[in-house]
Amino acid sequence: MLFGGIFVLLGGLSSFVYGQSTNQTGTGTATGTSTSTSTTSATAATAATFTNPVLNQVGADPWVIRYEGYYYMTFTTSSNIQLLRSKFLTNWNNVDRKTIFQPSPGMNYSTDLWAPELHHLNGKWYVIFTADPNSDSPPPEVDMYCDYTCPAVHHRMYVIEGSGDDPWSASFSMKAQLNTYDQFAIDGTYFQHDTGLYHIYSCWYRQYDGWPANLCITKMSNPWTVSSNFSERVILSVPSNPWEKTPYGRAVNIRLSSNEGPQQLTNPHTGQQFVIYSAARSDNRNYCLGQLELVGEDPMNVQDWRKNNEGCVFYQNPMGETYGVGHASFTKSPDGKEDWIVYHGMQDPTNGWGARTIRTQRFTWNKDGAPKFPRPGYGPYEVPSGQ
Ligand SMILES: *[C@@H]1O[C@H](CO)[C@@H](O)[C@H](O)[C@H]1NC(C)=O
Ligand SMILES: *[C@@H]1O[C@H](CO)[C@@H](O)[C@H](O)[C@H]1NC(C)=O
Ligand SMILES: *[C@@H]1O[C@H](CO)[C@@H](O)[C@H](O)[C@H]1NC(C)=O
Repeated sequence: MLFGGIFVLLGGLSSFVYGQSTNQTGTGTATGTSTSTSTTSATAATAATFTNPVLNQVGADPWVIRYEGYYYMTFTTSSNIQLLRSKFLTNWNNVDRKTIFQPSPGMNYSTDLWAPELHHLNGKWYVIFTADPNSDSPPPEVDMYCDYTCPAVHHRMYVIEGSGDDPWSASFSMKAQLNTYDQFAIDGTYFQHDTGLYHIYSCWYRQYDGWPANLCITKMSNPWTVSSNFSERVILSVPSNPWEKTPYGRAVNIRLSSNEGPQQLTNPHTGQQFVIYSAARSDNRNYCLGQLELVGEDPMNVQDWRKNNEGCVFYQNPMGETYGVGHASFTKSPDGKEDWIVYHGMQDPTNGWGARTIRTQRFTWNKDGAPKFPRPGYGPYEVPSGQ
């Protein structure tokens, strides 16, 4: 059911004379006229295209937000938080780039800075991110509770706040650690709802579980303060399906099975609220996107969520040499008409985390209001509408 749209798109593009082969070394630069404002229908000979990846370096957990004529991107560097600024969603090479947060050594957030996200909330800029004190090196008393060294046991969520209105000129400083009850927490994001602000993140059941990683939700009183206590914390999703487990379908030892990288996605036509998350394991070819939909009124009530147990909604495309696609964020075309997914994927499925690069593609919506993601690939694809 995910194939229809992309066949139409590729069919239209097949009349192009340039860049038809899929090639991982695509530069991410648009071919044709990137500044063209004329109609860019698939059949127009002048339509500009781009190829994936959109940044020529290893990169994971991309997050993009559009604000006043620019796209801003941040992604995992592990050592700091960087912000990139581009006029074009489809090209992040040689664009403005700065380090907006460099942690001091010796703090609980000095290493393994992962999955930063830049949010504009209540008129201020916040970056929510994961970090740990000592690069995943638990002391012996922690090992004791694990069959083997618990990876990431000290990972927690943090928030930095920017000064001023503009994310580029803002200076960011540490605001707070988010309360996750002194337990493993990664990939946290904000979920905005009529009933308030929520923190959705990847969590363990207990402090020293060492997996599986689930999705948890807590209520917030502001972008840096969790108001739920531990007994109010709700587990929204666990990696219960074969496609959420690592290795695929594993029945015993559920370690490394993950639900992580949650992202709020709103259907602009119907207002339906989704959380698109990553399932399986991030260094694995089976890493993919799963879907939760808020079908009731209360995000803190697990019964108000419906999980799509049918399978991944966005997943590897071996025929197109695209594996391990996940950890997505969502944005719009410059004219606001199209929805775009920004994600990471691997061409070489055997090289794990070091093989991930950042890609983007357009997506549409199914009749039931759920997102209709394309098959992942390298393009060339038409540039976003209005680019
Ligand atoms: C991809 O493109 C690069 C640069 O044009 C070229 O050197 C390389 O051979 C191509 N690889 C494939 C698999 O086509
Ligand atoms: C650092 O983390 C440890 C373990 O979670 C905690 O006990 C300690 O209070 C933290 N330090 C600071 C300054 O927050
Ligand atoms: C958590 O909060 C709820 C609601 O305010 C309260 O009823 C409960 O006693 C609290 N639990 C703990 C352990 O503080």
